[in-house]
Amino acid sequence: MARNHVGTTAIITGASSGLGAEFARTLAARGANLVLVARREDRLSALADELTSAHGVTVHPLALDLAAPGAVDAVDAFVRERGLTVDSLVNNAGFGMHGPLAEADAARIDEQVRLNVGALVSLTRAFLPEMTASGRGVLVNVASTAAFQPVPFMAAYGATKAFVLSFTEAVAYETRASGLRVTTLCPGATRTEFFQVVGTEEARVGDYQTPAQVVAVAMRALDARRTPPSVVSGRRNAAAAVVAGLMPRSIVIPMTARLMTH
Ligand SMILES: NC(=O)c1ccc[n+]([C@@H]2O[C@H](COP(=O)([O-])OP(=O)(O)OC[C@H]3O[C@@H](n4cnc5c(N)ncnc54)[C@H](OP(=O)(O)O)[C@@H]3O)[C@@H](O)[C@H]2O)c1
Repeated sequence: MARNHVGTTAIITGASSGLGAEFARTLAARGANLVLVARREDRLSALADELTSAHGVTVHPLALDLAAPGAVDAVDAFVRERGLTVDSLVNNAGFGMHGPLAEADAARIDEQVRLNVGALVSLTRAFLPEMTASGRGVLVNVASTAAFQPVPFMAAYGATKAFVLSFTEAVAYETRASGLRVTTLCPGATRTEFFQVVGTEEARVGDYQTPAQVVAVAMRALDARRTPPSVVSGRRNAAAAVVAGLMPRSIVIPMTARLMTH
């Protein structure tokens, strides 16, 4: 049954485009008030106006670089200043890079780890006590099908997503006695700005899904009687994730490398 979010507050990171904007639309339609975090303020404000008039919810845009030092404290301060209690958190902000690690921009690699891993862990830690106390909300951490095997030519990206999967499944177990629903969303190729940021579609595997299809997979998991600790969007992606786990690494790594450079 669809979980009722009326009157709850949800933080969504990376809400200025793609999957984050779709999560914002979905949770607002279910009655959640929102804190929308990303760097592009104009996009966040436009989405806030759209959702307030469509659903009558309160939406706070928060323009912030989550990879910058002190960013998570700034989110916490923003929430406290407004007297909000956080019921739900969608850690979705993230980006990928393509190419051999030795040739990658070193500062950008660090930024990727700080955003995809650092901010996600710190935000989860910051708001987990009040989310479990509330027991009405959801925690969604966005990983990727890249989480299921090492990914040559996206080595750091794949490793950040393997971290997100492991971390979130463990937190799901730790919080199982609370009413908080926790899942890891592992999308495959999704039609967002992701590959524009990567700078190439060379690393895309399989057909694109829409953000609406992918977010619906997460919502179904969260609405299930027993929420799975992780969920893969798309039947082919789900099958590939299982196969990757069964195959010897000596086979799966060169296969993945070929897929990353086709
Ligand atoms: N699309 C895919 O094929 C795919 C597949 C698997 C997993 N994923 C994962 O899905 C998640 C969402 O990505 P998407 O596909 O929706 O891509 P997207 O359209 O590029 O969205 C990424 C979001 O992250 C935000 N962001 C980037 N850097 C940030 C920073 N330093 N501080 C705060 N916000 C930042 C962006 O906003 P600003 O630029 O305004 O800051 C944007 O809202 C990511 O974690 C990605 O790894 C995507």
